[in-house]
Amino acid sequence: MHSNRMPKSRDDAEALLRLHLEYAVDQAIGDEPINRYELDKRDARPLEPAKKPAVPEPSEPLDKVAAAAEMAGKARNLEELRDAMESYEHCNLKNSARRLVFSDGRPDARLMIVGEAPGRDEDIQGKPFVGKAGRLLDAMFAAIDLSRNSDTAENGLYITNVIPWRPPGNRAPETEEIEMMRPFVFRHVELAEPELLVLMGNIACSAIINSMGITRIRGDWREVQGIPVMPTFHPAYLLRNPLSKRLAWHDLLAVKVKMGESKQ
Ligand code: URA
Repeated sequence: MHSNRMPKSRDDAEALLRLHLEYAVDQAIGDEPINRYELDKRDARPLEPAKKPAVPEPSEPLDKVAAAAEMAGKARNLEELRDAMESYEHCNLKNSARRLVFSDGRPDARLMIVGEAPGRDEDIQGKPFVGKAGRLLDAMFAAIDLSRNSDTAENGLYITNVIPWRPPGNRAPETEEIEMMRPFVFRHVELAEPELLVLMGNIACSAIINSMGITRIRGDWREVQGIPVMPTFHPAYLLRNPLSKRLAWHDLLAVKVKMGESKQ
């Protein structure tokens, strides 16, 4: 780019000046001038390879399940657990739902029920199982003398869901959503300390006992955290398949018998 040739004409000289101006010859970049034409060629060193710009390492993908487990683990009682769930920001369902649906009934009840996820009515009222399926659930448990509105822990019910926010359009919860809410529902059971647990439908079974296929697994006692667990049909399924109510009744009688046994 530089030339030792002297400009031959005024036009050449002006063109050369303009070029130097373009090269920012009028801007000082050091305190002392350097005559680069006089630099000994032997000193010329190859240009240092340009340093790579420091590209920040991609941050670790957020482990939403670990975050949930940490928050759930810190909750020392049900109120703190509810607060922890309210402040958990990694489940997108929270963005479309009206509110968190935490629980209903008596936290000191001997029997705890775990369902799937709130629907429209639950999303509006902020309580689990208050729609059509909820009315069937209430009738089913009333048949074995248990109620969420009972005056006693003995005959009470405590009800929650795996997923606390209504999935849009009542779609089924996705595996990732179940995984990230699992630590909360486990902690919920741990803090409520029920004597017995009833899981209603496949989603509750997949979250708590890691099994699906409710038609096959219903009616057989399992155990979680030392608590006997009865998997049974979801009341919404029973509304669509009334013939299965007979089997659900069988499961409820088994629950009643177990409660009588553990009282003695
Ligand atoms: N179905 C559920 O599983 N839970 C509810 O709260 C309502 C409907």
